[in-house]
Amino acid sequence: MQRYSRIAIFLHWAIAAMLAFQIAVGWALEDLGARGFALFQLHKSIGILILLLTLARIAIRYWKPRPAPTEHGWQGALAKAVHAGLYVFMLGAPLTGWALVSTAKVKVPTLIFGVVPLPHLPLPMSVNDPAFAAHSVLAWVGIALFALHVAGALRHHFLMRDGLMWRMMPVRSPALLAALPGLIAVGFVLGRIILPTPAPKAIAALVPPVAVEEEAAANVAEAVDNVANAALPASADNAAAVEEPVGPPPNWAVQPGGSIGFSVGNSGETISGNFAKWTAKIVMNPDHPDSADIRVEIDLASASVGDSYKDGMLAGDEFFGVAAHPKAVFTAKGAEKTGANGYRASGTLSLKGVSKPQSIRFTLSGKGKARKVAGSATITRASFGVGNGDSSTGLDPKVTVHFGFSAKAE
Ligand code: HEM
Ligand code: HEM
Repeated sequence: MQRYSRIAIFLHWAIAAMLAFQIAVGWALEDLGARGFALFQLHKSIGILILLLTLARIAIRYWKPRPAPTEHGWQGALAKAVHAGLYVFMLGAPLTGWALVSTAKVKVPTLIFGVVPLPHLPLPMSVNDPAFAAHSVLAWVGIALFALHVAGALRHHFLMRDGLMWRMMPVRSPALLAALPGLIAVGFVLGRIILPTPAPKAIAALVPPVAVEEEAAANVAEAVDNVANAALPASADNAAAVEEPVGPPPNWAVQPGGSIGFSVGNSGETISGNFAKWTAKIVMNPDHPDSADIRVEIDLASASVGDSYKDGMLAGDEFFGVAAHPKAVFTAKGAEKTGANGYRASGTLSLKGVSKPQSIRFTLSGKGKARKVAGSATITRASFGVGNGDSSTGLDPKVTVHFGFSAKAE
């Protein structure tokens, strides 16, 4: 039995499964709302991967020998035409998708798998509508060709009993006969199940800073002991406490469920949003805040205001410019006490390629090894070139960033 090369077989099934995934996700993209941005990025990333793998597959077609065609005459010609059509679909779908994002009114940067920036194709804006139409229609053309292709393969394999399907299997195994085509169904189902679950706890992130602080204040009563202890070492008549040996400051592991949000006034309204992805490394002894070492990294592409169109704008060059600068980083060495359980950390914020001094305020509540952190920072957005275009004219110059999370000492 002649068969395709292993690499051609691998690419055949991998590309087929990914195409099914793309169609499942693509159909839902328009209605995605808050979670749109990440899925758009995934759709575009996998689409470009398909484009590259298809180019590789075409190259391999000329490099590795293929089995001789099983059929001649009109049926052979039909099989050939369907294969050619499938290649047009495999190349056309990603190319029209790429053209579509390159000519959109709001240019949303694409970071392939969060790493490689995808340049925009130099095409006129007039291409946008036809590119979208073609992208949309090609999916259906692909499905129709797929149906013909599968019908042909099944006819050969099961009716004509010529074992054609083994040509696209690395070994003659009934399990693979079910599993490899099954991958296409898996791709489609995966594309459906990663789709909209309710937006991640945006509500927690949207709590305005005042409310966060109120919550922290309510915790003060509960934390009276702690507060008293924290206040005591500073007083002269408690020398014993001052002399207590101080071990290395503990590491605080941020617990799931926290949030970093932002709000800014815009022509009398307030725009609020949150960052779904961020990490914080915190080393600090609450009784000796000068020991603090804080590093917070925020994945700017995860910013959402609950509207995928505006989220796309946020990621663009006018606001965060995530393609060139995917992260905002705040670092501070040392913090100072500003009240019973209040602190201020003055450090550096690096955002959109600019690093400037920035301070944050926060309160700690809770006791011992489990604490709650709540705080905020006021950022002068112009210093970082955030909101430097036409759509930002009504935007207030100061943006409030607020955060709340639980942390455990390790
Ligand atoms: C490789 C295979 C791809 C397939 C099979 C595919 C399939 C689809 C499908 C079925 C839709 C829904 C169209 C509709 O609403 O009627 C869609 C939407 C979309 N695709 Fe793709 N896509 C692919 C690659 C790409 C690539 C590479 C990009 C961009 C770099 C892209 C960008 C988009 C965009 C932006 C939309 C949403 C358009 C809108 O609703 O406004 N796609 N895709
Ligand atoms: C259950 C689904 C599928 C089955 C059972 C299947 C089966 C096969 C078989 C047996 C061949 C070899 C034909 C021969 O040797 O003459 C083949 C070739 C091919 N298949 Fe599929 N296929 C499936 C899905 C797909 C999908 C989704 C695509 C692309 C969108 C695709 C694209 C191709 C292409 C382009 C070839 C020709 C390879 C070449 O000679 O260059 N197939 N397929």
